Amino acid sequence: MDPIEALRGIVGEAHCLTDPSLRATYETDWTRRFSGTALAVVRPGSADEVAAVLRACAEAGLGVVPQGGNTGLVGGSVPRGGDVVLSTLRLREVADLDREAGEVTAGAGATLASVQSVAREAGWDVGVDLGARDSATIGGMVATNAGGVNVLRHGPMRRQLLGFEAVRADGSIIRRLPGMPKDNTGYDLGGLLAGSEGTLAVITRVRLRLVPPLVHRAVAVLGWPDAASAVTAAGRLRRELASLTALELFTDAGLELVIRHAAVAAPFATRTSVYLLAEVGSDAADPTDELLTALEAIGVDEDAAAVASDPGGRHRLWQLRERHTEAVNAEGIPHKLDVSVPAARYAELVERAPQVVAEVDPAARTISYGHVGDGNVHVNILGPAADDDRVDDAVLGLVLELGGSISAEHGIGVAKVGWLERDRGSVTVDAMRALKRAWDPSGILNPGVLFAADS
Ligand code: FAD
Ligand code: MLT
Ligand code: ZN
Repeated sequence: MDPIEALRGIVGEAHCLTDPSLRATYETDWTRRFSGTALAVVRPGSADEVAAVLRACAEAGLGVVPQGGNTGLVGGSVPRGGDVVLSTLRLREVADLDREAGEVTAGAGATLASVQSVAREAGWDVGVDLGARDSATIGGMVATNAGGVNVLRHGPMRRQLLGFEAVRADGSIIRRLPGMPKDNTGYDLGGLLAGSEGTLAVITRVRLRLVPPLVHRAVAVLGWPDAASAVTAAGRLRRELASLTALELFTDAGLELVIRHAAVAAPFATRTSVYLLAEVGSDAADPTDELLTALEAIGVDEDAAAVASDPGGRHRLWQLRERHTEAVNAEGIPHKLDVSVPAARYAELVERAPQVVAEVDPAARTISYGHVGDGNVHVNILGPAADDDRVDDAVLGLVLELGGSISAEHGIGVAKVGWLERDRGSVTVDAMRALKRAWDPSGILNPGVLFAADS
């Protein structure tokens, strides 16, 4: 049978999109750097339909690109040409919330914001939070092992997983639901799927552990003359502040873009080279005094410090950091290099990244920001053509020289395929390929992601 007819028969005419205008938003990624044409976009409504779609695609030899909110930043969520995009957006049920245990089951296509809302109504919260919360899906977040702003407190998505349901390339369904906080029954397959970027299975549901909500919060933005002093201060804040929930860094070049594109005001009149954002939170008492005492202890410049405890003030300060992604995008199509380095090399990376970029492309602009509490820098480069990888290579080479990782939280996608082996070594990558062959022998799941398509 014609594969399109088979897919229509499974998901229904309305959920098998072949018209180019209907496919378009599924075919280009959030950065606009990566795009490709899909044979069709299918939107199954259940795990059984996902299974039938995968069987039909396997029979027709079609590549399948799982897609959630399409907010991924390494090109792994869009087709490379002729693939079927399997959108999870109809799998959005949030159910079985256990108020006593603090657990909930989310469909892969549920947005983070929708799960946060259900959890908060029940007096709980989700341990991972990120700026794309209104679009990023729980399935995509598990598939990328997303990090975000609270990793130093609660860890990345993998740490939130209690159970899962996923469909393998042959259409078989693996289910471990609800799952338990302690469960040593052989291989941790949920943990394996976290970070697998759609190359091993399509995740259809997950059981998440929830965290106590932070009723009281305070946020500070602090200016520093250079990256080294900011990173030293960040280390001291980690030691001083037991209630720390987030520790972020950005530079004046990024702040300038946010002011220009997001219509927000600078945090204080003094402009400095580098800024830290620190958030403290507690479910019991107001942590503002603890924050102020720590700021005094580390000796901040009062002309370059803003502190807010009220929701409006906190939101304004958070906007300065969170809106970097869209502000950079508004300037052009960025090369986005999400990397991490040991804490002792963080400042060096922030200082040297623009230099190595300028060596290969003097006209390029480098804007760095990131989760300094996790050693994670997002190096964004504006200027080079989308397919000109020289600046990417320069930054990733520097990261390996500094003993870091070429992907901290966004994954490998298609953007960093050429660098996986240089980072992890051939023995490790061979072990990964063996897993890929075992789970997806015909290689239909997200071909070209993690490994080159023909390898
Ligand atoms: P998609 O983009 O749709 O897919 C991402 C990858 O997962 C692809 O390889 C896709 O094939 C695979 N996939 C998707 N769903 C499934 C599924 N159900 N089963 C199997 N594979 C699947 N990321 C962070 O880690 N931290 C941040 O702080 C952060 N902030 C962001 C802020 C903004 C403004 C934006 C635009 C992005 C940000 N991101 C961040 C990146 C992005 O939001 C995350 O990678 C997120 O996890 C992607 O979720 P998604 O549903 O959009 O997945
Ligand atoms: C962030 O921390 O803002 C995100 O990971 C997105 C980005 O890198 O721009
Ligand atoms: Zn990030």
